[in-house]
Amino acid sequence: MNILQTLRDRFALALADFTDDPQTFAAMVRPAQGAKFGDYQANCAMPLAKQHGTNPRELAASIVSKLDLSDLCDAPEVAGPGFINLSLQDDWLREQTQSLVDDLRLGVPGTEHPRNIVVDFSSPNVAKPMHVGHLRSTVIGDALSRILRFLGHQVTTDNHIGDWGTQFGMIIYGYKHFLDESAYREAPVAELSRLYRLVNQLSDYHTAVEKLPQLEQRVHEQQERVDDAEAVEQPDKGHKKLLKGLRSELASLTETLNTTRRNIAAVETNSDLKQRADGHPHIARGARDETAKLHAGDQENRQLWEQFMPQCLNALDAVYDRLGIHFDLILGESHYQPLLADVVTDLKAKSLATESDGAMCVFIEGNEAPFIVQKADGAFNYATTDLATIRYRVEELGVDTMLYVVDSRQAEHFKLLFTTAKKWGYTPDMQHIKFGTVMGKDRKPYKTRSGDTVGLESLLDEAVAKAYEIASANDDAKPDGSELDEQARREISEVMGLGGIKYADLHINRESDYVFDWDTMLNMKGDTATYMQYAYARTRGILRKGGVDQESLRNGQASLQFSHAAERQLALKLCQFPEVLAAAAEECKPNLLTQYLFETAGEFSTFYEHCTVLKEEDESLRLSRCLLVDLTGRVIQQGLELLGIQTCEQL
Ligand code: ARG
Repeated sequence: MNILQTLRDRFALALADFTDDPQTFAAMVRPAQGAKFGDYQANCAMPLAKQHGTNPRELAASIVSKLDLSDLCDAPEVAGPGFINLSLQDDWLREQTQSLVDDLRLGVPGTEHPRNIVVDFSSPNVAKPMHVGHLRSTVIGDALSRILRFLGHQVTTDNHIGDWGTQFGMIIYGYKHFLDESAYREAPVAELSRLYRLVNQLSDYHTAVEKLPQLEQRVHEQQERVDDAEAVEQPDKGHKKLLKGLRSELASLTETLNTTRRNIAAVETNSDLKQRADGHPHIARGARDETAKLHAGDQENRQLWEQFMPQCLNALDAVYDRLGIHFDLILGESHYQPLLADVVTDLKAKSLATESDGAMCVFIEGNEAPFIVQKADGAFNYATTDLATIRYRVEELGVDTMLYVVDSRQAEHFKLLFTTAKKWGYTPDMQHIKFGTVMGKDRKPYKTRSGDTVGLESLLDEAVAKAYEIASANDDAKPDGSELDEQARREISEVMGLGGIKYADLHINRESDYVFDWDTMLNMKGDTATYMQYAYARTRGILRKGGVDQESLRNGQASLQFSHAAERQLALKLCQFPEVLAAAAEECKPNLLTQYLFETAGEFSTFYEHCTVLKEEDESLRLSRCLLVDLTGRVIQQGLELLGIQTCEQL
């Protein structure tokens, strides 16, 4: 049962006498911020009183007189400026908790309105190395899919991979000119990525050489402007502001200049690279031509693409397997190619797309830049593909909701995409589930020391290696000697390392940038997967040590008692699992679930500090506490599973 929703529904009934919009004010019922305010608190009386021009405390009292909560709450109390504090009846809460014992769903109701949802996530551009940025979409998308599915929605996970983009032109160009055959035979994807990086580097080099003189000139001129501005005696406020602007522009130009010089030096200090660069002065155009040929159906390029794809997909699969992530569909951009021409024809026929400077554009009110659906050279693009994808999902899959778990930097694309799709007549619920950038501790996009973005596989290996150190040290330090053999340690470190990486990502509000930091990630005490995994293993350990048989505990006659405030607090938390999942699904925010689990583990610690369990002499109280221990373990395990994080019985 979703307690919060039940309370809100009751409030909505009572509030009907006070407002035309009872739902909005009923939504102001929230879990209380501390036990002294009761279990839940409603602060709707204050804004309503403002609307009515009445006294908020009096209004709160009138709302209370209309409220019917007598079956589940003690009499509501009006507090402070007009808060309504609610406390669940002990007996009611106890029964509620007791009902979880033999409920496999831990009280979580299935949704009354199941939706047919596509979650579009991970979606890397294949044949480029996958990096830490892709992890965010993958981990968040997987967690949301699991949560929505658990709530009873029909969920299709779709990996909309970029398998048709310009990177293939670069790889094909590289393959034709720079292939190291034996490297390719041994590790094809690594070689393809090397070719990609090489072609990229060489074409960046030529651009840099071309731009350099102009850039130097601009820095020089900007420097003069700054010098002139600095020479002004007794500058006024406006002038100081001007100077600040000029300086910051100088700084950013200088940074561009330095990067440009660095790119040039990287090639020129390496005779091999320099020779290649000189031999391929028009490499950028060459790569573009290869892409164009592939898209136009050129046989040789098509064959190469078909040869590369399975290898790229295998490499991706290896990462997904390891992370325990499954896709129902992998319909990449190439899948929609045959459908694109018709999209544009249809948009034209409906007068939605019009020509502008040779390109086909959809103009959207209030937006200066149009949504380009066909470029002047006739090529279709990312936008066309996404429109075809929406049509396909609605018409072929009968989808009514699409969640796109993609970097915030694509916000503009999705805004234009959704608006265009709606004008075109496709009106499912479409949401861009945005997330921020992965940063290093220096608050810059996360890079290795050599400056490369960090490859995903090495990152996972590193997490597991670090987890191994921690798990082993912890095991070695056990008071009665170590308990784990080598194999157990290996298994545990995989679960801990991967869980650590996932949790670290999930526990941040997804819209914020996220700082990737090994030190906090695997910390046993903080808000980490490791802490949660230990809490879970601890619940298992207690029951194991007490020789408590879980089956008979769950099916047995033991009944819950609240003999200490900590038991009641823990029980309340456990009963809030359903409302937290509902909120996490509603807002598409897995961090609401991690936060809840962290709090639950905290309540468990408090409980365990104050209440003896196995040593409790009163048999019925001992069993009651064992029930709480068992339920806590189940809620934590279920919660982690919905985040894609595994647990171990023993750590
Ligand atoms: N491949 C794209 C990228 O790496 C993300 C695709 C997201 N999904 C979509 N339907 N546009 O930037």
